[in-house]
Amino acid sequence: MMVTSVAPVNIAVIKYWGKRDEDLILPINDSLSGTLSVDAMCTKTTILASSTLKENIFLLNGKKQSFENPRLLNCLQEIRSRANPGLPQLNWNLSICSENNFPTAAGLASSAAGYACLVHALAALFQIEGDISAIARRGSGSACRSIFGGWVQWCMGSSPTGEDSIARPIAPASHWPEMRVLILVVDDQKKKYSSTTGMQRSVETSKLLEYRATEIVPKKIEAMKEAILMKDFESFARITMEDSNQFHAVCLDTFPPCVYMNDTSHAIVNMVHTYNKFKNSSKVSYAFDAGPNACLYLLDSVVDEIFSVINYVFPPVTSHQADYITGIPITREPISEELKSVFEHNVLDKYGALRYLIHTTIGDGPKTLNSPDDHLLNLNGLPKRSYDD
Ligand code: DP6
Repeated sequence: MMVTSVAPVNIAVIKYWGKRDEDLILPINDSLSGTLSVDAMCTKTTILASSTLKENIFLLNGKKQSFENPRLLNCLQEIRSRANPGLPQLNWNLSICSENNFPTAAGLASSAAGYACLVHALAALFQIEGDISAIARRGSGSACRSIFGGWVQWCMGSSPTGEDSIARPIAPASHWPEMRVLILVVDDQKKKYSSTTGMQRSVETSKLLEYRATEIVPKKIEAMKEAILMKDFESFARITMEDSNQFHAVCLDTFPPCVYMNDTSHAIVNMVHTYNKFKNSSKVSYAFDAGPNACLYLLDSVVDEIFSVINYVFPPVTSHQADYITGIPITREPISEELKSVFEHNVLDKYGALRYLIHTTIGDGPKTLNSPDDHLLNLNGLPKRSYDD
């Protein structure tokens, strides 16, 4: 039996940071995110279940992973406990092969897409019906939001067993079709410390985190839901930027501090505020996760101009040009002298500071791919392609 799923990345506009239960992955606050289209960024996972497989195998981007990972085992156990006990595949070994088409563990939400994809494929394999977001949550908290498309809230829940800590769709991708996302990749190397370690340290040491979770986030979630439902970009942008800034303030309030943003990240923040001031309204917003890369949320009407501004402020190295921008094509508009004059133009500083850009939209949730050509494994449970490259 073989199944293949693809699942999207999501980028939170109200961040999840801090757990009240490490094993069950129960958060200390609600969070809210946009699910990105799988066209530009996704995880693809094929699972083969077979009575002839001698052992369980797990390959991620061609590298063998341990099957003894407690998060993987928790997801498997939850899935198996929900399956019909008569299914023969419950007793078979599994070969799992998973690939990201974007850098893994570089603060680009790879664990969210990864676990959402794994759980989606397992649910298909073991014929599980109903909401699987609480199962994806056992793999990685943010993964529960990638189970749905569009705009998604993760409700923290109050039950000690976690059954009400689930994701809920707020609005589908089609609700705000003008919304665009530009990911500015500053660094695609593995991050210094994971979100898991960082948030654990914040829970132990940051007083600001407690205040954020209890006093700030509940109000922000309501305001953000309203902004999304009303398609009020101005409010959406403001809340998104404020929340990203507050999350990184908590990271600095952590002891020892978790420093995720770098000089280029701060230069991006400045660029966005300078542009918005020039336009006299919030046309672009930023959100930074646990890494230096920026996620800009903006409307389609400003994408071309912002791209020109980005190229002006962060001149790309010419040799990067071919694959410098992936996803939806962008036209480079000439930038007016008036607009140029508002930016500090220090080419030496910012030359080549951005590695590449991804231009995408809000998209749908995970799906199963049914064509045999889509499978990453052959019938022996081995990857079809070689991962030497
Ligand atoms: C900054 O979901 O990666 O991206 O639950 O420990 O696996 P674990 O953490 P993870 O944390 C994501 C944190 C964040 C904010 C967010 O996505 O809400």
